[in-house]
Amino acid sequence: METEILKSTQIQEAADYLADGQLVAFPTETVYGLGADATRPDVVKEVYAAKGRPSDNPLIVHVFGPEMVWEYADNSYKPLAEKLMKAFWPGPLTIIMPIQPGKLSKAVTGGLTTAAFRMPNNQATLDLIKTFGKPIVGPSANTSGKPSPTLAKHVYHDLHGKIAAILDDGPTKLGVESTVIDLSVDVPTILRPGMITVDDLLKVIDNVNSDHHKVKAGEVPKAPGMKYKHYAPSAQVVIVDDKKDFAKAISEFRQKDGSLGVMAVDDVLKDVPSDVLTYSLGEDIFSASRDLFAGLRQLDLDGVKFILAQGFPNADHGEAYSNRLDKSAGNTHYKN
Ligand code: TXA
Ligand code: MG
Repeated sequence: METEILKSTQIQEAADYLADGQLVAFPTETVYGLGADATRPDVVKEVYAAKGRPSDNPLIVHVFGPEMVWEYADNSYKPLAEKLMKAFWPGPLTIIMPIQPGKLSKAVTGGLTTAAFRMPNNQATLDLIKTFGKPIVGPSANTSGKPSPTLAKHVYHDLHGKIAAILDDGPTKLGVESTVIDLSVDVPTILRPGMITVDDLLKVIDNVNSDHHKVKAGEVPKAPGMKYKHYAPSAQVVIVDDKKDFAKAISEFRQKDGSLGVMAVDDVLKDVPSDVLTYSLGEDIFSASRDLFAGLRQLDLDGVKFILAQGFPNADHGEAYSNRLDKSAGNTHYKN
């Protein structure tokens, strides 16, 4: 199959592919998603096959707006959920709620009694869902285990020949996946940190648990996806938490067999020796989050064996970045 690159205005073409039971990658404000008709289990199964994703890992149902959610979700969650939707949709918040029995297939929910809903903040994709007229499932459009795609060419690299088309809307703005909040438990619980922070949520609802901190080895995490190897480039990633340690870390890693890449903000890169490959994370946590996955992919293409990546404080907007970088590094931090 030849994978077609569609312009962000070619909504009808993309919708036609979906209606024909084919897979179309779509842009969002976070990362590119791998879209399919959420109401057809046969097609949803193709999403898992294309990504090489374990089938017990449920998918996010992308909707055009709250109305579409209540065709599937349990209405008893409406008051709480609508507060969040009003404050954060369209935007990077995925809301997990119990669903009406039989309304979504096992292929979407992984056999759970809940499902994840999100209205992305991207006009082309909202137009696509509206034109298609049904929700679309969409995991990130990468090969399972690899960094999520923030450019159409990342999707093409991982999935060309396996999907019908990619709706190209340029680079994604946020670069890390949505915050996932579970409303189906006593206290609303964050299962995956994203750019909507605990503080943002506490402005709208009274209480929030951030469970993702507490998942220890051997424990079963609540979001099935969190247990798998994630975001890992082929190179070995080592996190440098203190900017002052870069000089020492670089000189140590340069003595190893295999080339080195450094990913950091410009302020750090200006002192890196010119023969070391670098990837700029811009100037702050927002540019770093936006460019993290692209950087991991680029340094992989450059063929480096080690990546020294800058750590940021694991709080507020740094939580999502830290969570993803920790996974890509298998929790390896540089020790001075
Ligand atoms: O920003 C995003 O969320 C992107 C864009 C494309 O929308 N999507 C994305 O999807 O990151 P994915 O499939 O890579 O991550 C969805 C996460 C997984 O960790 C999955 O296990 C969890 O949400 N999840 C989905 N449904 C769930 C449910 N019913 N209960 C618990 N966790 C769920
Ligand atoms: Mg993913």
